[in-house]
Amino acid sequence: MQSRRTFLRGFSGGVVATGAALAAGRTSLAARGGEQVIAPTLSAANLKPAGPLDEAYWWKVRSQFNIIDGMTFMNNGTEGPVPRVVLEANERFFREIAENPSNNYRREEIDVVRGEVARFVGANADEIALTRSTTEGMNIFTHGLDWKAGDEVIYCSHEHGGGIGCITTMAKRAGIKPVVIDIPSPPQSVDQIVGLYEKAITPRTRVIMVSHMTYVTGLVTPVKELADLAHRRGLLISVDGAHPLGMMDLDFKAMNVDHYAAAGQKWLMCGTGTGVCYIKRDVQDRIWPLMGPPGDPKDGAKKYEAFGQRDVPSALGMSAAVALQTAIGKQNVEARARALSTRFRTGLKGIPGVKMWTSEDPRFAAGLTLFSVRDVPMANVQQAILNRDRIYIRTMTTGNLNGCRAATHIYNMPDEVDRLIASVKHVAENASRYMTTTAQAR
Ligand SMILES: Cc1ncc(COP(=O)(O)O)c(C=O)c1O
Repeated sequence: MQSRRTFLRGFSGGVVATGAALAAGRTSLAARGGEQVIAPTLSAANLKPAGPLDEAYWWKVRSQFNIIDGMTFMNNGTEGPVPRVVLEANERFFREIAENPSNNYRREEIDVVRGEVARFVGANADEIALTRSTTEGMNIFTHGLDWKAGDEVIYCSHEHGGGIGCITTMAKRAGIKPVVIDIPSPPQSVDQIVGLYEKAITPRTRVIMVSHMTYVTGLVTPVKELADLAHRRGLLISVDGAHPLGMMDLDFKAMNVDHYAAAGQKWLMCGTGTGVCYIKRDVQDRIWPLMGPPGDPKDGAKKYEAFGQRDVPSALGMSAAVALQTAIGKQNVEARARALSTRFRTGLKGIPGVKMWTSEDPRFAAGLTLFSVRDVPMANVQQAILNRDRIYIRTMTTGNLNGCRAATHIYNMPDEVDRLIASVKHVAENASRYMTTTAQAR
């Protein structure tokens, strides 16, 4: 039986500690820090779980997180807890720069991280900008295009402000026209969704903008099919991917997208101020940098990073987050997030008075679930669950849709999901108690 220490060493990531380096037992950051390097007893291959329900394995993964005692955290959709390997890497980089600011930009190492992130998401390094948020990545694309008044952008009514804020600004500034469609919650089929976008295309359409996973109901959209549609019709596709990075097994090239903006702080769990923006090589000449000089084509997507100061420790720390997920295996991460959320959705189904807004169809859902309880105000549901069971989930609203959103990720355990189901059941069975005030919640 391996000790916690040896397990941790197996996860030791770093700027050059890729999955292969892990397998070879190299821990480069530890070496640079002057620590004794002891080869991990497990190779990266041996770190693979037997399956999404291999609880002994997932318990070890859970032990990599410092989540405060007594709290069950289920809101990765806003920000994820930072695993210890990432926290320690960030702390180390922060200390190094604080103590020796002569090499504060660490550009060469940022480029190494860029390459690691690119491999992780199925892209070339020259197609990846390491940004500070999803919002920044969305702005890079939308503000970078040369628009003409009357150009149209299609998106759905469940888009997040971080993704469409730049489009609404462009509507005022350059006269572009947002064309907003509604997708039913839940949808019936991929064809239905693709058909709704297709119907909205006119000769003035230039861009389809879509969230790979919508933030309220957690709808997983058929991005590949929408990218194919866009390209068939001579359009660009811009994807708000705030959620899937670190939750789903992504391959940008296979998805055939032109642009994909993602968050580091959510499911990849890199802490605040981290993000990834993919811009396909052959559209980069059409996307101006948001800041700084026009950039040289030979620099690829690096031209989108001319934003001056950045949080270098956190950007470098992304290496450890990618190494951790690579060691677990991207497919295993996705399978685990899905297995837990399926368990949650299955549990909710049997509770009278609970309405689930997220699809039960795995093609349209992954780690996020939105539900409501009779007509109990969502803030009361959230507070009741927090007070009674110390489970943190989040309230969400868009248009006339209200509910509580629960996220399941690799550090969550089935018994936490079961406790959440029991907690929701309690609120549903005692709805009148929670209707007007949260004061009675317990
Ligand atoms: C779908 C979606 N897009 C964009 C954002 C904004 O993300 P960021 O804070 O990384 O800019 C969020 C944040 O919750 C989101 O859910």
